[in-house]
Amino acid sequence: MTRKGEKIALLTAYDYPTALIEDKVGIDIILVGDSLAMTVLGYKTTVSVTLEEMLIFTKAVTRAVERTFVVADMPFLTYKTDSNTAIINAGRFIQEGNADAVKLEGAGSVVPNIKAIIDAGIPVMGHIGLTPQSIGILGGFKVQGTKKESALKLIEDARKLEDVGVFSIIAESIPCELTPLIKDAVSIPVYGIGAGADADGQILVVHDILGLFQDFIPRFVKKYTDLGKTLNDVFSRYINDVKNGDFPDEKQTYHIDKKELEALRKELSKGSYRL
Ligand code: KIV
Repeated sequence: MTRKGEKIALLTAYDYPTALIEDKVGIDIILVGDSLAMTVLGYKTTVSVTLEEMLIFTKAVTRAVERTFVVADMPFLTYKTDSNTAIINAGRFIQEGNADAVKLEGAGSVVPNIKAIIDAGIPVMGHIGLTPQSIGILGGFKVQGTKKESALKLIEDARKLEDVGVFSIIAESIPCELTPLIKDAVSIPVYGIGAGADADGQILVVHDILGLFQDFIPRFVKKYTDLGKTLNDVFSRYINDVKNGDFPDEKQTYHIDKKELEALRKELSKGSYRL
């Protein structure tokens, strides 16, 4: 698609019903992002989510898809210690989670482990720029590569990742002017999230575009709807209906056959039953 100049539409999904719709509607790549730590599980940052938790969501998504390529995010510290652990953990997303590939953050000391995972036969997507698992080191959710040195490092990072065989790279929160320079430096697709319109594709967090995550909204988010408000209205109407006795009505109610009911009443009137 990138060679043909076709833009690639990626979106996160964490659950069966969302993945089912994304698959049907034509999303090109689904990422089971560790952003679910914050959007679904209510952790303060992504570092809290575990491998076992990520596997549950990955399985839910892959059960739903028929055609979409699914990438699972490897959580904090599951790929950084040693290459054997990294391979085994990546393998779990493929073998148990049924994902097509894994995504790993960074391009520093982790590069040999990325190579080891790829050498083991597992496709890897890279992630550079703002890498939320390193938020402590980066000093918060800040735009990356804003100075010549840090911009050069991003380009080098992209090259390093391509050299060890990643099939694509996500560039997060970088100046849009850097994206064409990164693309020039590598031959693999570069997807953007807060990286401008020149990226080969775009990815956003599904809860952000639906208006379901309200804690903070990064500048790069385009909110397509306000499901938060819709859910608020729906839940309030349901509460009112229950309290007012307007739910359930005839449409949502089951009946017993009249004869059966009469027979039941007769039986009860004999007095041999204590209710
Ligand atoms: O976890 C995630 O959803 C991500 C995207 C923001 C790229 O890594």
